[in-house]
Amino acid sequence: MKFGYFDDANREYVITTPRTPLPWINYLGSNSFFSLISNTCGGYTFYKDAKLLRLTRYRYNDCPVDMNGKYFYIKDGDTVWNPGWQPVKTELDEYECRHGIGYSRFHGAKNNVTADVTTFVPTDDNCEVSRITLKNNGSSAKTLQLFSYIEWCLWNADDDMKNYQRNLSTGEVEIVDSTIFHKTEYRERRNHYAISSVNTKTDGFDTSRDAFVGAYWKSTANPEAVENGQLTGSVASGWCPIAAHQINLTLAPGEEKSYIFVLGYIENPLEEKWESHGVINKKRAWDMLSKYKTDDQFFAAFNELKAYWDELLSKYIVKSGNDRVNRMVNIWNQYQCMVTFNMSRSASYFETGIGRGMGFRDSCQDLLGFVHLIPDRARERIIDIASTQFEDGSAYHQYQPLTKKGNADIGSGFNDDPLWLIAGTSAYIRETGDTSILEEMVPYDNDMSKATTLMEHLKRSLDYIINHKGPHKLPLIGRADWNDCLNLNCFSEVPGESFQTFGPSEGPVAESVFIGGMFVKYGEEYAQLAELLGDNAEAARARKEVEIMTEAVEKDGWDGKWFVRAYDAYSHKVGSDECDEGKIFIEPQGFCVMAGIGKDNGKAIVALDSVKEKLDSEYGIMILQPAYTEYHLELGEISSYPPGYKENAGIFCHNNPWVSIAETVMGRGDRAFEIYRKTCPAYTEEFSEIHYTEPYVYCQMVGGRDAKFHGQGKNSWLTGTAAWTFVNISQYILGIYPTHKGLSVDPCVPSDFGDFEIVRKFREGTYNIKVKTNHSQKGVKKLTVDGKVCDGNIIPYEKGKKIYNIEVEM
Ligand code: BGC
Ligand code: NOJ
Repeated sequence: MKFGYFDDANREYVITTPRTPLPWINYLGSNSFFSLISNTCGGYTFYKDAKLLRLTRYRYNDCPVDMNGKYFYIKDGDTVWNPGWQPVKTELDEYECRHGIGYSRFHGAKNNVTADVTTFVPTDDNCEVSRITLKNNGSSAKTLQLFSYIEWCLWNADDDMKNYQRNLSTGEVEIVDSTIFHKTEYRERRNHYAISSVNTKTDGFDTSRDAFVGAYWKSTANPEAVENGQLTGSVASGWCPIAAHQINLTLAPGEEKSYIFVLGYIENPLEEKWESHGVINKKRAWDMLSKYKTDDQFFAAFNELKAYWDELLSKYIVKSGNDRVNRMVNIWNQYQCMVTFNMSRSASYFETGIGRGMGFRDSCQDLLGFVHLIPDRARERIIDIASTQFEDGSAYHQYQPLTKKGNADIGSGFNDDPLWLIAGTSAYIRETGDTSILEEMVPYDNDMSKATTLMEHLKRSLDYIINHKGPHKLPLIGRADWNDCLNLNCFSEVPGESFQTFGPSEGPVAESVFIGGMFVKYGEEYAQLAELLGDNAEAARARKEVEIMTEAVEKDGWDGKWFVRAYDAYSHKVGSDECDEGKIFIEPQGFCVMAGIGKDNGKAIVALDSVKEKLDSEYGIMILQPAYTEYHLELGEISSYPPGYKENAGIFCHNNPWVSIAETVMGRGDRAFEIYRKTCPAYTEEFSEIHYTEPYVYCQMVGGRDAKFHGQGKNSWLTGTAAWTFVNISQYILGIYPTHKGLSVDPCVPSDFGDFEIVRKFREGTYNIKVKTNHSQKGVKKLTVDGKVCDGNIIPYEKGKKIYNIEVEM
């Protein structure tokens, strides 16, 4: 069952009922100012950091869910309704929400009045702009009142929901004409405030929630001032400041009127904070508002956003016979990659924005799917991430987006982290050819006095693994590797202890086969970077280490039919046929084969066949089997989840593409695509009533076979799945992979996929690629570039060349 449909021409998902299984959200904002907005107008806004600079308040763990947002109320006689249905939930005659790329639109109709709202964040401004049009479709005049409503957050979203003894006394506002200024804490240490404004004279306002809502047993679902048809002109003093505007209007039959609302963030230099004693300096606010006064201005900014995305989405376009692939590759998958790059794992409807900062490994992986879009931002990110590394090559597991400093609460000890830095840097250089980044001086632990070149950072990353091996010559796992819940040194017995930080950060024995696979893959990529710098000795040294690791993985990391997952603190196998539960894990099968381990001696195929036999399900590949049915002290959080959920045998979408890529390495296009298809939103859309989360983006986890809710998604949007799936479909299945020498073309598709075309912008060139598949799954027989036959799969990069026309025969 579906709750809407894809409108590919407009790049929108159209939701046709407000009663979706969960709030289905969108992200507005490209650089610093962001909003989350649900299909019923719920959500919140922040500047740069969802915890520290939150503009509007959201209620967590609430019932009903998704309370608080940007609401418009329309009062038409005795009927009060919202274009997005919430919060009054008056039954609408028409409802539609269109989530687009960086904007959302809402259409509601009631009693011959239609309301259309378009809301977006301009590409280069710190505000959210919403235009609402009200139209009278009836045959007699309508007298209406329009109200807007937002509730301010007192900046620190974490403190805001805990520290009432202080916070109920600090709220302050100013009001000038149609603009409400939220200035809590501005008198002391803040030099920023927020504004809510509309481009017309208003007929009333409220800035106190109590005045707007009425007595405390009322709510935004039945606010008293709206019911009375008149806001009260309240000036907030402590309690809960809001911004509500009132516009009275009369519409003749067929007449429509539009208003533009702006929600903005303003920062003043310290010396320009005040206009006069206690009165905030509003100059920058007036400047901002002057840009969104007229419809022309609104549409100009909106079209700029569209043009921005047209450009970004012109970098990789596929035209194939499969509409679902086209829509995911050309629109939604790339869009989600941008969102994960911006947010990391901070702010979604599953991540509160008050918890995790930016993850070291998460950000490095997000980069893999984003780097072709805006390489300069990827470059900056790599430097930021590397700046939080320690001198020994290990790394802070997280860092704060505002300060860019490592997060000491969680510290280091996640031993996969250093290798992801190599992965991200290699992807950046393969995409851009910009080796100058390797010569950049980058600090350790943000201390510039300890800076070395980025290449030296990468060397220390590699050496960290080489110097931290266990009894089987496999990498020590530390607190955990990619699987944050496999905590082999933790041994936690007290509820509430964080599995992530409890216990020693490293044991002498617990080892990870997965990191071994990563080392083989990224050790080779590191060697290639060393070669680019002319350091062949270093490349040879790295390759020698890769060989040693490959031997260790093949020897003690092989269980007979699949790769072992790890060795625990007693040196017992994890993810082996010897185990009672958790006999086989997905991660090493995907990564080791991706790295080429066992490719030539049959192990790779055997491992992938075991995945199909033991881990596959209707909705995707489960992370492990059999699920852990009891808590294992020696394994940690993984066994804390009920069977079938999350890391305990859930379908972790993030590592499904690893197996799909591994299948392409082995040339099995049918199977690679089958894996791609099972978690692909454009396919899961068909059973949205089971899958639950948004059908236009990936979620982190789907309930596994052991779960009561098998097939149900959770944790949508912020997941490394976005990047890895884009890497999988664009670089491995469709097969356009950036190398240091140029683009390589080596598709691995299902035999019935048919011919396809790709336009890929790579460095200065546009590559028009036509692939004739001839029912083959893999293997390029002939590659011509501008009519000339090429040897091998790589289109030689020619500096400055603008257009390449490529024909490929498989
Ligand atoms: C989750 C993991 C996550 C970790 C760190 C765990 O509770 O299951 O998916 O990586 O927390 O935030
Ligand atoms: C989510 C975390 O963000 C990521 O870092 C981790 O690799 C996965 N969960 C798996 O545990």
